[in-house]
Amino acid sequence: MAAKYCSTFFLGCEFSQFLAFFFWLGFSSNGKRWKEIWRFSLITLRNFGMGKRSIEDRVQEEARCLVEELRKTKASPCDPTFILGCAPCNVICSIVFQKRFDYEDENFLTLMKRFNENFRILTSPWIQVCNNFPLLIDCFPGTHNKLPKNVALTKSYISEKVKEHQATLDVNNPRDFIDCFLIKMEQEKDNQESEFTIENLVGTVADLFIAGTETTGTTLRYGLLLLLKHPEVTAKVQEEIVHVIGRRRSPCMQDRSHMPYTDAVVHEIQRYIDLVPTGVPHAVTTDIKFRNYLSPSFDNKIMLAA
Ligand code: HEM
Repeated sequence: MAAKYCSTFFLGCEFSQFLAFFFWLGFSSNGKRWKEIWRFSLITLRNFGMGKRSIEDRVQEEARCLVEELRKTKASPCDPTFILGCAPCNVICSIVFQKRFDYEDENFLTLMKRFNENFRILTSPWIQVCNNFPLLIDCFPGTHNKLPKNVALTKSYISEKVKEHQATLDVNNPRDFIDCFLIKMEQEKDNQESEFTIENLVGTVADLFIAGTETTGTTLRYGLLLLLKHPEVTAKVQEEIVHVIGRRRSPCMQDRSHMPYTDAVVHEIQRYIDLVPTGVPHAVTTDIKFRNYLSPSFDNKIMLAA
């Protein structure tokens, strides 16, 4: 009976502290909107129903570019944070905007800068204070004012991209997620109640970036750290990679079932780093009594940890 109250925006464990900002920034949906857009997004992404290229293909392309970029460091010490954040962001760009960006592309760097800036602000101690005492936000304007500005600028960039897509849309040949959404909008154009609107498209694309970039980038970074700390595990993973994949081709999803050790290591990395320990907020759809505790229904807006 637990209904999802908000759809996304959970940037690492610190984020669990920022529910007030979560709602303030408007990154949430529930009820009919959440249900319809969630179902559409899941089917579109799961079926790889976006033209000739699958998501796997896009991930492989990005992985090759990431390896190339890491090679440029010539094995000298470096901080991989930025580049490991770029790769997942670029996969999402490829899925929603059709193409990945070059790592030096100005639009891409601006997008990344805004995400990073917002994440830094959201994880600052000051925001934790404001989250517990929301009234303080109005009394002490500070860096957090940048948050809505960054969000608005990101949304306006996505809106520009949507306009470009509208101008070149071929309903028989969707190129990416935005095209699929626009086609769905067209199919629902006579439905006054439709959730498939430009505003919801822009919000959904922003959600995908916010939900997918920091989470995956941080997982990659911690994964590398754990492999460095456990060279005996890394050696076994490497042995399995060489045995199953070899050195001439990219890994693919089919390899997974032949690589039980690597699969287990990936799961263990995710378990160990515990990136979103309290999950995202949920609410119950009806009053629920559990032992002597009452969880009031969604209308009363009581948030529950997942
Ligand atoms: C290692 C990387 C990731 C981690 C650890 C992670 C973690 C999570 C968690 C804990 C939830 C909440 C589930 C719940 O309680 O209902 C969630 C939901 C979600 N994630 Fe991820 N995620 C990751 C990557 C991604 C990526 C790459 C995307 C998209 C491109 C994404 C999109 C979403 C969305 C849209 C939701 C909300 C789904 C809903 O409303 O039911 N995530 N994720």
